[in-house]
Amino acid sequence: MRFHARAPGKVILLGEHFVVHGNPALSAALDRGVEAVAEESNEDIVISRALGAECPIARPTPSLTPLCLSLRQLLGDRSWNGVKVILETAIPVSAGLGSSAASAVAALVAVAARFGGHLNGDELYEYAMVSERAVHGNPSGVDVYVAINGGLVYFKGKKRRQVVPYKRFPIMVSCTGIERNTGELIARVAEFRRKAPDLFRTWATSSERLVEDCVKALEEGRMDVVAESMNFHQQALKAMGVSTPELDALVREARGAGFAGAKLTGAGGGGCIIGLHTGADYQAALDAFRAKRPNSFLSYVPSEGVSSWSTQS
Ligand code: MEV
Repeated sequence: MRFHARAPGKVILLGEHFVVHGNPALSAALDRGVEAVAEESNEDIVISRALGAECPIARPTPSLTPLCLSLRQLLGDRSWNGVKVILETAIPVSAGLGSSAASAVAALVAVAARFGGHLNGDELYEYAMVSERAVHGNPSGVDVYVAINGGLVYFKGKKRRQVVPYKRFPIMVSCTGIERNTGELIARVAEFRRKAPDLFRTWATSSERLVEDCVKALEEGRMDVVAESMNFHQQALKAMGVSTPELDALVREARGAGFAGAKLTGAGGGGCIIGLHTGADYQAALDAFRAKRPNSFLSYVPSEGVSSWSTQS
């Protein structure tokens, strides 16, 4: 038997970085992510096609260390052994789209199923956070929460809830192709906060108000409010030093192509932007934009959280 699990990547609509400092973020699952397949094997090993890496879970290569730490803890706690895990990803890695969280969640679910076990939401969250902490020290947990639960999520510390938008809406994702290190970017914002505490407080407070306003706006279908809030956040993220000339250029082009709101998503420093089109002709806008920026796609919000199934090998 082969045990499959698929977990979504995510975008942050509003509030990245501020969420690390206890403020809220709004995040949405993507309609694509990471698929893990687990099967019986003589030794515990992981293979990641996207990273071109393969290693024993007990002796991980650097790129697979975070994931292997999560798996090792699960296998140790349950006294399980004898599993091969293969990961395939449909989202770019190190691009701010939550691939590490989606990999951990999908792999943990597939491995538990391989041994006839089950992880409840809290257990899954805690095991996946082992990997996230190894990736960047001080994660808010939003990526893991969205990979598990999917949907459109309001996330502020332990306060987490689904937001039900007025109707399902498309979000455009466009990637620079530049990989970056989330831990370094989090440290950059912490340094900004240390040097300019008053300014940081003003922006964090404004961000929080905008997130709260946007929850209502999304529920009522006032997408122009969300687009304007995205633009505010881009400005603040840029001033805190986590945007880049490549991200700024993508944001400018997206706005020029008709996406009323455009901002970087995730930690910044490379990675991707998102664009929100508030009119009906978003497909034409995407086609025009993609002609120049082929590394772009549309995803629909809300999308599903982790799912699992099995096949005969
Ligand atoms: C999350 O994708 C991006 C950051 O907000 C870090 C985090 O929330 O853990 C920068």
